[in-house]
Parts: sequence; C-alpha cells; structure tokens
Amino acid sequence: MRRSFIAGNWKLNLTNAESRELASQLVTNLSDVNDRDIVIAPVFTSLTIVAEVIKNSPIQLAAQNCYSQTTGAFTGEVSPILLKDVGCNYVILGHSERRQLMNETDTFINEKLLKALDTGLSPILCIGETLQERENNQMLDVLGRQVKGGLDNLTAAQLTDVVIAYEPIWAIGTGKTATNEQAQEAHSFIRGLVREMFNQDVADKIRILYGGSVKPNNVDGLMAQADIDGALVGGASLKAEDFIRIVRFERGKAK
Ligand code: PGA
Repeated sequence: MRRSFIAGNWKLNLTNAESRELASQLVTNLSDVNDRDIVIAPVFTSLTIVAEVIKNSPIQLAAQNCYSQTTGAFTGEVSPILLKDVGCNYVILGHSERRQLMNETDTFINEKLLKALDTGLSPILCIGETLQERENNQMLDVLGRQVKGGLDNLTAAQLTDVVIAYEPIWAIGTGKTATNEQAQEAHSFIRGLVREMFNQDVADKIRILYGGSVKPNNVDGLMAQADIDGALVGGASLKAEDFIRIVRFERGKAK
C-alpha cells in the first residue's frame, strides 16, 4: 500500500502574516491526521515562518523550486542545502508554470532533481501535457519524454525518495479537472514508464499525484483510482477549509 500524499502549492501568494495564519489553521485542524502525508509549499520568503508554525505537527514543508548548484556566483538562486536548512523535506520541480514561463528544460530539471536528492531533499517532479498535445495524440510522447528526461541518471534506490505529480496543463487553474478515467489512464501509463526504466518494485512503490483543479468535490473520486496516490493542489490549497477537506478525502464517498 502506498501512503497517500496531499500537497498544497501556494504559488506566488500570501504575505508572511497570511502564510502564518493559513499554516496555523491547518495545524489546528489537521493535527490528528497520521495516515497520510501532508505537505505545504509557501513562497521562499515565508518558509522559515511556516516551518516554525508547523513544527510538532504532521504537516511537512516544501519549496516551490531550487537551483542545481550548492553555493557560488548564482545571483538570485536558492540551493537545496539552504532549503533543508530552513526545514524543507520536499521541493517541487518542473512545475508547468516554470517550464512555460521560465523555459525550464527536462535536462535542467533533472540536474536540479539530482542535486536535491544529493542533499536529502525529496523532489516532487511535475509533468503534464498541454491541451494541444492531448488533442494531437502526443500526450504519451510528452509524458514519456518528461519522465525519462526528469529521472535520467537516477538509481532505483534514489527513486524511492521521488514523488511524481501528473498535472495536465489544461486542468491547472482552469476549473477543468481531468475525469477520473483520464487521470487514471495517465497515471497507469506513468507507472508503466517507471517500471520500464527501473523495475516493478519501485514502480509499485512510487507515489503519483494528480494535480489540476483538485477541489473538495472531486478529490474523493480521483483518490478512488488505483494509480492515484495523492494530489498537488493549487488554488484550493489557499483556502483552509477546502484544503482540510481535500486532505481528509474519503475514497468511499467517491461519486
Ligand atoms: P490548481 O493548481 O489546483 O489551481 O489547478 C495545481 C498546480 O498547479 O499545482
């Protein structure tokens, strides 16, 4: 059995005061949850404050990005070692917004992923196709390229610390979720790729999250799918009530 994993990606939102408030509400309402992983990813400048608030709670900290080098003349970058230093256990890498807006390539994402693993930070590798790629039947090629490129040069042992997030770009922030069947199909394909690249055991163990307009009213159905192990939540993670309900998903209530 894979342990469920619900992550909130706060993106470029919330001041320090707002981050502290949201994190406090999550701590108050989620401290009894111990059968699933709960992760939140605030902006860099709020990491230290949020780390303090969630200390001694089941909630863990993620950063939204990192660089591929540890120290040096890299103005404006933040390295995995510094993220560990402020209390992060996870780092989101290759989010579609970074691929699209900052032109991040699979090679660069792979360099960052390897550096994160070296540092003991677990990467959440995001992949996903655009609407055009889906409509042109290129989805499987795109996912194949992103999985192979992102996980290049990893050992099977290293893969146990990686989480994959399948986020179809057409579903991010649009209110259009993939259907349960579309998401399951992609997840099962991704698990198959991991099996081909590594082995059956790591493919069985790796957690694959779905992301793209996950809300309280669709999480139960998504989580009821065999290969969906969790969710990466954007918009709904900024509302305490919604994120709490998503963390407390109930497969049995799936419509
Ligand atoms: P969304 O974002 O839930 O707002 O669609 C998901 C993501 O980008 O991780």
